[in-house]
Amino acid sequence: MILVTGGTGFVGSHLLYLLTLENDAVKAIYRKKSTLNAVKKIFSYYSDNFESLFNKIEWIEADLMDVCSLENAFKNVTHVYHAAALVSFNPKDYKLMRKINIEGTSNIVNLCVTGGVKKLCFVSSIATIDKSLNTKIIDENCEWNTENNNYSYAITKYGAEMEVWRATQEGVDVVIVNPGIILGAGFWKSGSGEMFSNIYNGFKFYADGVTGFVAVKDVVFAMIQLMKSDIKNERYILVSENRSFQDVFFQIADTFGVKKPSIKITKLISSIAWRVDKIITVLTNKSPIITKQSAKSIHSNYYYSSKKITEALNFRFQPISETIKDVCSLYKKDL
Ligand SMILES: NC(=O)c1ccc[n+]([C@@H]2O[C@H](COP(=O)([O-])OP(=O)(O)OC[C@H]3O[C@@H](n4cnc5c(N)ncnc54)[C@H](OP(=O)(O)O)[C@@H]3O)[C@@H](O)[C@H]2O)c1
Repeated sequence: MILVTGGTGFVGSHLLYLLTLENDAVKAIYRKKSTLNAVKKIFSYYSDNFESLFNKIEWIEADLMDVCSLENAFKNVTHVYHAAALVSFNPKDYKLMRKINIEGTSNIVNLCVTGGVKKLCFVSSIATIDKSLNTKIIDENCEWNTENNNYSYAITKYGAEMEVWRATQEGVDVVIVNPGIILGAGFWKSGSGEMFSNIYNGFKFYADGVTGFVAVKDVVFAMIQLMKSDIKNERYILVSENRSFQDVFFQIADTFGVKKPSIKITKLISSIAWRVDKIITVLTNKSPIITKQSAKSIHSNYYYSSKKITEALNFRFQPISETIKDVCSLYKKDL
């Protein structure tokens, strides 16, 4: 039996959709019943038969921080996909992120070990891959460097990876995926979904930094292929293309047929913006719009290699221009 954590989120709901196409029964955890509607919505994008696929999921109320509830979810489970995490770039969330992402993953690992789970797939991030080495192309060998000025989300995802590597020492086979920025439909008010809705609604700013992008359907397909394979105790970068934010933003605007963002955020603008935003957030207690880290990353040029997954699974990624077309068309349908 398969168990999915984070199934009510962007990646996890797409994962559940693919899993229910192939399996008669899948378990997934949730915290609030109201979040299940978003999962059904994701299913409805891809199939007319979405109700019956959705009904294959056995939903169990559980929290990563509540071991008793997790124990209940782990009954008869042989394979675990761990996608749940707190994703935040707000420095205020650091402590909570440590709890959910590191301690929560530790709880998952412990239950995999005691429950005799055969294989665990963990969704990490390119945030845990070191970027300080003097290499043009970043790959899985670029090991984390504690001496870097690492940001809070990255630290907690790295801590979670360490917990997952511990599982390998205690008899559980694992695979880790390290996706770039994941593009996909739904969840229009958070993550990359917000990028699409903002641009549709006239967002004016862009930056010229480069990073890795990948389609959500490729991420979840790779996860399932890795779990089905004999591969164990390896991690894989999942990036279809390295593109600039400018390039991606402009293409989204063109595909929607709306005005392209026209104001380039220079290093000077962003260095002023994050400082001003910091003062505003302290005074108003609101979440920051731009942080020191995001200001830095929108100007950095990072090029990732997906050679390892491409060779291991003969994997072919969807080109980002096609992903953008698919996502824009689903956004328009939702309007
Ligand atoms: N999106 C990206 O671009 C991206 C890129 C690289 C890596 N990742 C990784 O991919 C994974 C999924 O990200 P996402 O974009 O799908 O995030 P998301 O949409 O915010 O989903 C997060 C999921 O984690 C669950 N969760 C959070 N705290 C929990 C807790 N204490 N107990 C149980 N469940 C909890 C949430 O449940 P609720 O619905 O109850 O809140 C939700 O199902 C994360 O590990 C993230 O680090 C994402």
